[in-house]
Amino acid sequence: MITLITNIQELLQVRETSIAKVSGSEMANLPTIKNAFLVLKDNLIKDFGSMDNLPKINADKTIDATGRVVLPSWCDSHTHIVYAGNREQEFVDRINGLSYEEIANRGGGILNSAKKLNETSEEEIYEQSKIRLEEVMHLGTGAVEIKSGYGLTVDGELKMLRVIKKLAENYPIAIKATFLGAHAFPLHYKDDKAGYLDEIINEMLPEISKNKLADYVDVFCESGYFSVEETEKIMEAGLAFGLKPKIHVNQFNSIGGIQAGVKFNALSVDHLEIMNPEDIEALKGTETMPVALPSCSYFLSIPYTPAREMIKAGLPLALATDFNPGSTPSGNMNFVVATACIKMKMTPEEAINAATINGAYAMGLSETHGSITKGKKANLILTKPISSYYQIPYAFGSNLIESVFVEGKILE
Ligand code: NIG
Ligand code: FE
Repeated sequence: MITLITNIQELLQVRETSIAKVSGSEMANLPTIKNAFLVLKDNLIKDFGSMDNLPKINADKTIDATGRVVLPSWCDSHTHIVYAGNREQEFVDRINGLSYEEIANRGGGILNSAKKLNETSEEEIYEQSKIRLEEVMHLGTGAVEIKSGYGLTVDGELKMLRVIKKLAENYPIAIKATFLGAHAFPLHYKDDKAGYLDEIINEMLPEISKNKLADYVDVFCESGYFSVEETEKIMEAGLAFGLKPKIHVNQFNSIGGIQAGVKFNALSVDHLEIMNPEDIEALKGTETMPVALPSCSYFLSIPYTPAREMIKAGLPLALATDFNPGSTPSGNMNFVVATACIKMKMTPEEAINAATINGAYAMGLSETHGSITKGKKANLILTKPISSYYQIPYAFGSNLIESVFVEGKILE
């Protein structure tokens, strides 16, 4: 099946050869072809170029994209899409003055979601989660990472990871699974932290590995959650089972989590709202992708990741949603890109690079996703008629997507 898209006003993120990521000043460069064509063969990108050089093609289907922009789908490298119920009461409690920390200390927060998850059947969790997955696919997400972490028991964590696996089997976008047993200490382990670590390392990890249920291991490294020392123990154990770390660090405090992540060659370190100069220094020259989650900063009214300082220091940066019931009940990557421009002063080019190629890197998918490159997946966003791609962050509340392609087919 050959699909030809013609007269594309701007074709974004065009890379002749596959690159792993873009860093520092390169992030300002978003290679674009104006008045372009794009050829899809089955599920892959086959060819592209300027309309001036359009070859003769026997297409099964031709789409005229006059006035429209085409770009690779968003690569959302950090989500908690699988959960049960919601936490809207905590949202109202925060409006009325309680902080995220105060709510967590009263047994709300992650433990509230864990209680709900353990009380909900696997089938019901799947039904609730697939609605969110379908929503984000229609918002242009073409690859996504999903974490466990609301089970906090062997059964609960395995149940979540099986739901992620079932989503990956039933939906055509790439889905990576991350084991986040170390998301919070369950109440019955409050005074026995070593006991929960033992359960994660000696019960959960072997079972997850045996059933091939996760690609990565995650830890919420934060004051009041997992210390740097505990984080290192879990990363070490994860690596022994072949799971690379992707960790939550520096959301509220800088306690050395970035340095620990780098030491264990983490694929990504995520959140980074609170960064000191040593944290930025620690990331230089490493393979670890820093990931910012601006919708979380927006929803919790906490600082935004200092993107400008990090890019100036030559670092790469990826953007993701953090879609979860507590700190970010939104999986809209278009909003993430807009918020990164509006609040973090990223340029549209930097934000689009961060949400495509660098997002793909942060889930080990840069060979197949994140750019318009021959042989990569034909996962694309085709916009409505717009003046230029600047509209994507500028018109921050509008849905500018006309169609989404997944594996070469228009998503219905
Ligand atoms: O990435 N910070 C830790 N975990 C999630 C929020 C979890 C929750 O509140 O349910 C996050 O923000
Ligand atoms: Fe998160």
